[in-house]
Amino acid sequence: MTIDLQPWFQNVGDLPARTPNQIVGAMQGSDILRIASEIQQRQAEGHPVSNFTIGDFDPKIFPIPPQFMDAIEAALREGQTNYPPAIGIPELRSAIRAFYKERLGIDYPEGSVQVGAGARPPIYAAFRSLLDPGDLVVYPVPTWNVRYYVQMNDAREAVVQTGPETGFMPTAEDILPHLREARIVLLNSPLNPAGTVIAEDLLREITQAIVDENNRRAKTGERALYLVFDQVYWQLTFGREHVSPVKLVPESARYVIHIDAISKCWAATGLRVGWAVVPPWVRGRMQPLIGHMGAWAARAEQKATAQMLAKPALLDPWMDDFKGRVEGLLTQFSSGLRSMRDEGLPVDCLDAEGAIYLSARFDLMGRAGIHDDEGLRAFLLTEAGVGVVPFTAFGMPDGTGWLRVSVGTATPDSVSAALERLRGALKKV
Ligand SMILES: Cc1ncc(COP(=O)(O)O)c(C=O)c1O
Repeated sequence: MTIDLQPWFQNVGDLPARTPNQIVGAMQGSDILRIASEIQQRQAEGHPVSNFTIGDFDPKIFPIPPQFMDAIEAALREGQTNYPPAIGIPELRSAIRAFYKERLGIDYPEGSVQVGAGARPPIYAAFRSLLDPGDLVVYPVPTWNVRYYVQMNDAREAVVQTGPETGFMPTAEDILPHLREARIVLLNSPLNPAGTVIAEDLLREITQAIVDENNRRAKTGERALYLVFDQVYWQLTFGREHVSPVKLVPESARYVIHIDAISKCWAATGLRVGWAVVPPWVRGRMQPLIGHMGAWAARAEQKATAQMLAKPALLDPWMDDFKGRVEGLLTQFSSGLRSMRDEGLPVDCLDAEGAIYLSARFDLMGRAGIHDDEGLRAFLLTEAGVGVVPFTAFGMPDGTGWLRVSVGTATPDSVSAALERLRGALKKV
């Protein structure tokens, strides 16, 4: 006999068992997922919509590198199906160190690499290892999802506003007033959502300020200040060089937490391999967290990633083609927007420097019934069939008109069609 449990989950009212932990209860759902479901609904109703909202890839347009696929398959067939060590398999950890030495010019010692299931578990484990409740995290907006990691750790945040003049990157003056009290500064470059790369002098200044603050603390015995440097898109830059803060200020190696993953750079978001490159004492604290959450990367994927990273030159032709196609789509989009701007339409954008994103701005406040960024987003979706995410979803204040365009599921045809519909909609306003 099967017992139907459905009735036990109905009319539960204020059943105490439903009350969540306060921190979890206060966490809000993702704006991006809400927007994505609205787009699906419009598509289901038969409206033409080009979806530039998700920070992911369509595998039919952007499949993973074929040699990576073969290596995973071979690893599975060879029986790489049991628990990996919580720190990550040795071949992968040493391949990551060699890769950073060759491509980023920073030579980390054994014991500095913590592998995880994508970038998120290492971010969570780093925050969890370093923060006590009430500790301060400083980060610029717009930025992807940091607020959830702050919330999950019951930490406080100091949010630094940025603008288009610095590619939505903070300056040292923006960050400095918060440093004395902070425990973590988080920076992300190339930046989700803006698609920009931090200028070397800005990064050097901020990193040096973090080192200076730690030198002060060393004398007083206060706990150290760390820089969480999220560089998951670093292999996807266009005409700009990505630099680690540790390369610019070597002394900062004691305080920098590099966050990285294959998710974006190999279009492998669902395969879940990421890592942190950190001071060994931080890694030692992260390891049991990753282990007890079971948040390690699958062993076969680790084996295959190690093979790719050990001989990165073999992947270079694939990377060049992949990057070229992403950059082509972003440039097609930005050129289209700029030609509309030159025709006098109220739109502008920044140069795409990295990642899979473009920052675009529509100056439509007070027109066509638009009074906020959500209204702007809804207008672009209903009037132009273009799905984009406003920077408010990344913590920016409302009313700037800045939006993120993501090209991970785009084709040259879908971009052309979207640009045509946008031109039509803007001309009508
Ligand atoms: C800046 C940034 N960091 C980290 C992540 C998370 O990466 P993963 O999918 O490897 O967990 C994302 C994903 O969107 C991201 O945009």
